[in-house]
Amino acid sequence: MNSGPKKILLVGAKGVVGRWVHRALKADHTVIAAGLEEPLEADELQLDLTDTEAVQQALHRLGPLDAVVSTAGRAHFRALANVTAAPLATSVYGLGLQDKLMGQVNLALAAREVLKPGGSITLTSGTTSTEPILGGSALSMVNGALESWVRAAATELPQGWRINVVSPSLVEGTPAASCAAFPGFERVSGPRVALAYLRCLFSGINGHVIRI
Ligand SMILES: NC(=O)c1ccc[n+]([C@@H]2O[C@H](COP(=O)([O-])OP(=O)(O)OC[C@H]3O[C@@H](n4cnc5c(N)ncnc54)[C@H](OP(=O)(O)O)[C@@H]3O)[C@@H](O)[C@H]2O)c1
Repeated sequence: MNSGPKKILLVGAKGVVGRWVHRALKADHTVIAAGLEEPLEADELQLDLTDTEAVQQALHRLGPLDAVVSTAGRAHFRALANVTAAPLATSVYGLGLQDKLMGQVNLALAAREVLKPGGSITLTSGTTSTEPILGGSALSMVNGALESWVRAAATELPQGWRINVVSPSLVEGTPAASCAAFPGFERVSGPRVALAYLRCLFSGINGHVIRI
């Protein structure tokens, strides 16, 4: 990507992780902040990653784009003892697979239609891909799958496009109730997390999983 201001879609911009990324980008770039909530500002957009058609339409309205970033995605916490075998539609794992995993994968796939040559896609997984927590099997499943998918997708992207994934430990600002599920995990400062996303966007890397 050349230097200069970029047009970037940031999905999940109002979340704990997204706010740090938004803060790091907005001074120098045009950032469209997307999420589930109703937009309050002109540069905000309501977008549900699980609605593939809406995502495609939004990308076409916004494009061409220099970068697409996702700091979004939900999954259920549940002790394995309380997880039963079930079809996807009713499984505890359904939310994570449809929202955090396929929501981000579909965003990346659709982004190819509007990404400028040399543009980049950056997704978010999480430390449970390699470091399990109690009650975190859904998160481990989707984070691991997302990282594997990004590595594979990176090898097939044309036009100088790049795709990477940031896999943070506990991020500064995460509510105490969520932190309690991660005993003994390193806390990562917000600015340090944001730097990982800046590396993905601007350092030329492709197919990387940045663990912080
Ligand atoms: N916080 C951490 O310490 C940490 C560490 C490692 C990984 N992560 C991962 O990073 C991601 C964000 O975490 P977070 O703590 O920032 O969560 P958060 O504070 O709950 O924020 C999530 C953001 O994503 C948006 N969002 C959720 N589902 C969406 C969907 N289907 N379509 C579009 N937007 C959606 C939300 O929109 P609204 O604001 O409109 O609701 C919100 O802006 C998650 O996947 C999480 O697993 C977080």
